[in-house]
Amino acid sequence: MRKNVLIVGAGGVGHVVAHKCAMNNNVLGDICIASRTQQKCDAIIESIRRKNHLKDETKKLYSRKVDAMNIPSLVQLIKDTQSEIVINVGQAYVNMSVLEACIETGAVYMDTAIHEEPDKVCENPPWYANYEWKRRERCAEKGVTAILGIGFDPGVVNAWCALAQQDYFDHIDTIDILDVNAGSHGKFFATNFDPEINFREFRKVWTWIDRKWVLQKVHSIKMDYDFPVVGNCPVYLTGHDELHSLSKNMDAHSIRFWMGFSEHYINVFTVLTKLGLTSEKPVKVTEGVEIAPLKVLKALLPDPSSLAPGYVGKTCIGNFIRGTKDNKKREIFIYNICDHAECYQEVESQAISYTAGVPPVAAAILVARGEWDVKQMVNVEELNPQPFIKLLTSMGLPTEVLENPVTFEPPVIESLESV
Ligand SMILES: NC(=O)c1ccc[n+]([C@@H]2O[C@H](COP(=O)([O-])OP(=O)(O)OC[C@H]3O[C@@H](n4cnc5c(N)ncnc54)[C@H](OP(=O)(O)O)[C@@H]3O)[C@@H](O)[C@H]2O)c1
Repeated sequence: MRKNVLIVGAGGVGHVVAHKCAMNNNVLGDICIASRTQQKCDAIIESIRRKNHLKDETKKLYSRKVDAMNIPSLVQLIKDTQSEIVINVGQAYVNMSVLEACIETGAVYMDTAIHEEPDKVCENPPWYANYEWKRRERCAEKGVTAILGIGFDPGVVNAWCALAQQDYFDHIDTIDILDVNAGSHGKFFATNFDPEINFREFRKVWTWIDRKWVLQKVHSIKMDYDFPVVGNCPVYLTGHDELHSLSKNMDAHSIRFWMGFSEHYINVFTVLTKLGLTSEKPVKVTEGVEIAPLKVLKALLPDPSSLAPGYVGKTCIGNFIRGTKDNKKREIFIYNICDHAECYQEVESQAISYTAGVPPVAAAILVARGEWDVKQMVNVEELNPQPFIKLLTSMGLPTEVLENPVTFEPPVIESLESV
């Protein structure tokens, strides 16, 4: 039985993680929220109190200030707070320092995004091999449970792949992960999570096709899909974290990721990129002063968590999976629908943060109970998906499965470069 949770990062996702931990503190124990800016942690605690979400009032809920790039400070914080589970929802730059602190203290580690270095974008596949997987043996030697990418995508979509392999198919041919936000925040332009990390995703498109890595240009391949509930939406072939582990762990010919963008989003993004404003490379603005344009853009755009109060509409994230079962062709769409306004009503958050923040708490509960305390480093598809999917349903993220859905048939995708 593991107990006491340290949440690193007090952004939009950290907000949801903290609410859901508080709602399950009878299992999880004391909760500490730590971030670079302590006031942000305290604002989350106020929101939890406002919603009366602290289930067991005898357990502690408190904040700390920490620089998550500093391993000794993190080690001290884990010891001081007696945290046996660390949920890292800070910016992806801090992943390896938080993981190192967990390896040193023996605490369970979880994150929701692949590690990033500030000066590198869209690293060559499989990206996990450059950072996380280099620490796999040390986790196994020390019996440290490290669950990588346990948000929604990556995260729940990986568990659906494992479920498809377990229950729905003898052989999987293709997996297409489709992520669409059919909601509206009413602003001229905003990203739904950290703009800096969001824009860095759209530099290169790495995809797993016919068991090879294929490189394509950003936003160059577009499809329309008639989604359940939210209807017809355009989606674009996009590189994404989960492909870097699913390509290793799933026996499938092709695994692709598609993200929905409106025409307006593509236009604004294209202008910003053409002007150089999405670049992470510093430019000289005056004598002796250099700044990365992307940092300026992040400072100017709305804070994603500020979008929550007025957000309306729904998200649909799903896996279209094609293969065979009992020698017959089978197609399924396994998906979740999440409503922005309902998320706000429940935890004062929008659906993107909600879908990313609930899964790590479900995982923490499974680890606390021992079901997922695997004492090694894993990606989500390597774990038993059943208890996770069941728990998510009771925590606000139900899974639906459609047999014979509207078919999804992408064109042949040629590579600009082979690996
Ligand atoms: N898998 C999924 O489905 C999914 C979906 C969305 C997001 N994500 C991931 O979830 C994570 C959080 O996203 P978000 O939208 O919540 O981002 P966010 O709003 O930008 O929050 C990030 C938090 O990290 C903190 N932070 C950054 N550097 C730090 C440091 N050195 N020390 C301590 N704290 C630090 C920031 O603190 P300050 O505010 O004080 O600067 C901020 O509170 C990201 O890694 C994102 O990629 C995953």
